[in-house]
Amino acid sequence: MSNQLLKGKKGIIFGALDEKSIAWITAIRCFEEGAEIVLTNAPVAMRMGEINKLASLVNAPVIPCDVSSDEDVENLVTESLKHFGGGFDFVLHSIGMSLNVRKGKHYTDIDYGFNSKTLDISAMSLHRVLATCMKKDAINDWGSVIALSYIAAQRVFPDYNEMADAKALLESVARSFGYQYGVKKHVRVNTISQSPTKTTAGSGVKGFDGFINYAEKMSPLGNASAADCANYIVAMFSDLTRMVTMQNLFHDGGFSFTGVTQAIIEQMEK
Ligand SMILES: NC(=O)c1ccc[n+]([C@@H]2O[C@H](COP(=O)([O-])OP(=O)(O)OC[C@H]3O[C@@H](n4cnc5c(N)ncnc54)[C@H](O)[C@@H]3O)[C@@H](O)[C@H]2O)c1
Repeated sequence: MSNQLLKGKKGIIFGALDEKSIAWITAIRCFEEGAEIVLTNAPVAMRMGEINKLASLVNAPVIPCDVSSDEDVENLVTESLKHFGGGFDFVLHSIGMSLNVRKGKHYTDIDYGFNSKTLDISAMSLHRVLATCMKKDAINDWGSVIALSYIAAQRVFPDYNEMADAKALLESVARSFGYQYGVKKHVRVNTISQSPTKTTAGSGVKGFDGFINYAEKMSPLGNASAADCANYIVAMFSDLTRMVTMQNLFHDGGFSFTGVTQAIIEQMEK
């Protein structure tokens, strides 16, 4: 399906690790819709991942960038400007990493050194990318920036651990920077709060299988897939959503506003 919604648009996509990654599927959809893309990921992820396969599918260069490094982000933006021959129109921040979850630390016993790295990679990196783009005047007027979030920013999902705090911070940065970039250049900044999705980052959450099944039963439309998310991101990068900014947009089949469903009641009555 292609409506050329992104014809003439250019953008950077962070976070495509493998075929399951939301960023991977989004890169393919953006390409199908006519966009020109630069792909990027952390150097370590590139060694593990298959990003070159994606790069040939979407005809994009790959520029390594550890998003916690000022230098790497600056280099990425400079090289992207060179590649595109000028400014670009969209950025997808599809990045998450929790060091305490990786090390098996409980939320009540986190290591604060790991925690500050988690917040830096998963949340403040959005600030770093936006600030670098603003300094270099890299995003065109009416550009669109999306970062991916999760409802643990608003409601408690105990095993989501410190990532809940990271997502709350990420959504706050999207609002605060969205104001600044909106006033300065009509650039809009939003987060999309996605259903649980079977990817490398998703499956890292303890008890993930239980929680994805629970969310499926608690959502009137069922869980939103990565492909659905990619379509929503395309819409948000297109000119059809020009006046949407500073929002956290739930993309979760109705989960966020559902108190209970018949399926859950029946399960409880068993
Ligand atoms: N999978 C889910 O259930 C789910 C639900 C809601 C939101 N999200 C969010 O969606 C986004 C994408 O995750 P995904 O599910 O596609 O998993 P994924 O594991 O495929 O993607 C996460 C990406 O973050 C990258 N990354 C980690 N550290 C980095 C660093 N220092 N610099 C640059 N990149 C770095 C990884 O290399 C990887 O490509 C994340 O923000 C995640 O929190 C996921």
